[in-house]
Amino acid sequence: MEILAIANQKGGVGKTTTAVNLAASLAARRKKVLMIDLDPQGNATTGTGLQKQALKMSIADVLLDGVSLKDAIVASPAGFDVVGANRDLSGIDITLMGQTDTHLLLTKAMAALEGAAYQYDYIIIDCAPSLNLLTINAMVATNGVIIPMQCEYYALEGLADLSQTIERLKELNPDLYIRGVLRTLFDNRNTLANDVSGELEAYFGDLMFQTVIPRNVRLAEAPAHGMTVLEYDKCSKGAQAYRKLAAEIVKQSAAK
Ligand SMILES: Nc1ncnc2c1ncn2[C@@H]1O[C@H](COP(=O)(O)OP(=O)(O)O)[C@@H](O)[C@H]1O
Ligand SMILES: [Mg+2]
Repeated sequence: MEILAIANQKGGVGKTTTAVNLAASLAARRKKVLMIDLDPQGNATTGTGLQKQALKMSIADVLLDGVSLKDAIVASPAGFDVVGANRDLSGIDITLMGQTDTHLLLTKAMAALEGAAYQYDYIIIDCAPSLNLLTINAMVATNGVIIPMQCEYYALEGLADLSQTIERLKELNPDLYIRGVLRTLFDNRNTLANDVSGELEAYFGDLMFQTVIPRNVRLAEAPAHGMTVLEYDKCSKGAQAYRKLAAEIVKQSAAK
């Protein structure tokens, strides 16, 4: 079982798009996948065709009320299991203030995933655009972090904070590492995007995924229909790119 968090404290870099479509692409390769939405906005939840306000149990019930993670799992129309999120998750930092071990809530919750029905090949966690308690919970519970990055002028800004956070959290989770940096929303006709892409390669080296996710309108349209891009337009450039990313990740997993 591999647990991968999709994190970057910048908003709008394609975290949620990656979480949903990577989960779908892994599922299309017959992998057993669970996606956990850790963003109160619940975009990953609705992106799989679930109604975020109609969830019987959400990740907030698990983290705040001790509901078993198993009881919050639902089979999504997208073809993989989901633990959804909604606004009930907002304000968790304040709700839990003063309590101890609040960074371990997700790790403890995931320990409940025993039994054959819960043997996932991949657990994908969609993080909020913040280095808040929720994101820290994800990183403590995770093996690898996938960092989506848009190749624009400010892309590298904030990266030092993210790298530092990962380094510091290694004290709590020695298994934590950067699984890969993913170029998203990429427009190869744009000179700046190509320059920044080159800078990222120089900075991250082998940590860069070979797969690049192009800017593709089908990826932006799909969530409005409550679908992953594989359901919405499986021949689109966006769908092809996420399937390629899934293949790259599965190959890496096999090599480990
Ligand atoms: N490769 C892409 N091509 C076109 N639009 C994209 C792409 N990736 C993301 N988007 C759109 O950009 C916006 C931000 O993406 P999102 O995945 O929600 O980012 P984040 O979760 O990092 O805030 C959304 O409207 C999404 O549909
Ligand atoms: Mg998001």
